[in-house]
Amino acid sequence: MENYGGKKVSSCVIISGKGSNLLQLIKSSLGSSFPIKINLVISDKKKAFGLKYAKKYNIPFKVYNSSNQKKFEKSVLKELKKRKINFLCLAGFMKILSGSFIKNFQKKIVNIHPSLLPKYKGLNTHIRALSNNEKFSGCTVHYVTQKLDSGKIILQSRVKIKKNETASSLKKKILLKEHKIYSKAIRLIFN
Ligand code: GRF
Repeated sequence: MENYGGKKVSSCVIISGKGSNLLQLIKSSLGSSFPIKINLVISDKKKAFGLKYAKKYNIPFKVYNSSNQKKFEKSVLKELKKRKINFLCLAGFMKILSGSFIKNFQKKIVNIHPSLLPKYKGLNTHIRALSNNEKFSGCTVHYVTQKLDSGKIILQSRVKIKKNETASSLKKKILLKEHKIYSKAIRLIFN
């Protein structure tokens, strides 16, 4: 993507839950050389724990119910335009955005996914990796396109699956890697 020319790109992080990736992105974005500024957090769940991080760091946040996708996307788009947001990071956002929404942000929406894409698109990645006796799993930062978890890969990180690995131990291990590569991928995009 284009060089950001020293001026931070106005960005929004969209979440549905815990927000541990959001927290890492916020922390990275506080650094003067980080290419994006998080000017908005959106959640489709009002009880999302991650909203606490938006509050803690004084970042404006909005909650929109996503049960009606059209309505949800319309409200989100309106808010993004109002705040002149140019880049979106999905971080544990559990809904699939429509093609018409994505068109507004071509190559400007990224997501983090807990598998080594193109393997294990969609949900329950850790259970599926274990039941296939994979030796490795990991996480991927990729561009968001209309096709689920299929956009161009920006960065991946790999972990070894141990003999006694459980879905929950694997999830923890991979999440730690996610926290590292999400910010790294964003630096790569803009630099
Ligand atoms: C992460 O595993 C991410 O890869 C997936 O959802 C989880 C979100 O975790 N898309 P958190 O909300 O960032 O803690």
